[in-house]
Amino acid sequence: MRLRKRKWMDPLLEEENDLLLHKEDLPSFFKDDKKYFLEIGFGKGGFLYQKALKDPNNEYVGIEVDRLVVAIALKTYLDSAPKNLHFILSDVNNLFEDFKPSFFEAIYLNFSDPWPKKRQHKRRLTYPTFLEKYETVLKNGGKIYFKTDNEGLFIDSIKYFQNSKFIIETIDEDYMLKDDDIATEYETKFRAEGKKIYRLIARKDD
Ligand SMILES: C[S@@+](CC[C@H](N)C(=O)[O-])C[C@H]1O[C@@H](n2cnc3c(N)ncnc32)[C@H](O)[C@@H]1O
Repeated sequence: MRLRKRKWMDPLLEEENDLLLHKEDLPSFFKDDKKYFLEIGFGKGGFLYQKALKDPNNEYVGIEVDRLVVAIALKTYLDSAPKNLHFILSDVNNLFEDFKPSFFEAIYLNFSDPWPKKRQHKRRLTYPTFLEKYETVLKNGGKIYFKTDNEGLFIDSIKYFQNSKFIIETIDEDYMLKDDDIATEYETKFRAEGKKIYRLIARKDD
């Protein structure tokens, strides 16, 4: 991955704060009496920040691999973040072993990178190998909420879900925002450009 660097990034990412969680914190972080929601690829973090604010009794955990965008999210939300919001800087592939089985209530995949070339498909966050991991860490009845502007990724993802253990609940080929929806940074940009937004919800069978 190309490394993008800004002078202020490293001190922000390296200094201890309540918002940024580290892999080594995870064993003692998760508590059985709380509910956890996960966003993978949270980008600049606005979606998860709003979710956490609206739902203070549940825990919102975001994972993002790009150091620059995590640093931007920290810079934006460090002073105002509610206690139930947690960011992790990592490739999600390095964290599955740290998650308890059948634990998360839901996983949000918002505008995941489309990786259009066939040889890149395995990096897609909806690729079958990822769906198998999500199936392990989601509770029975837990859901995946997947949104994209990319038709090719969406069509392929429907097939990935159909061939998985998940049950597809909803497929929207032109999803309109509802009152309580939170648009992500990419979604806001794509909607302003007049792009169609696709959405799929899938459930882990109980
Ligand atoms: C197109 S951006 C969308 C950002 C945000 N969800 C939004 O909708 O505004 C996709 C993000 O997913 C992150 N990402 C891709 N693969 C990832 C992985 N394996 N683990 C963690 N983050 C990942 C990328 O770094 C990128 O920031």
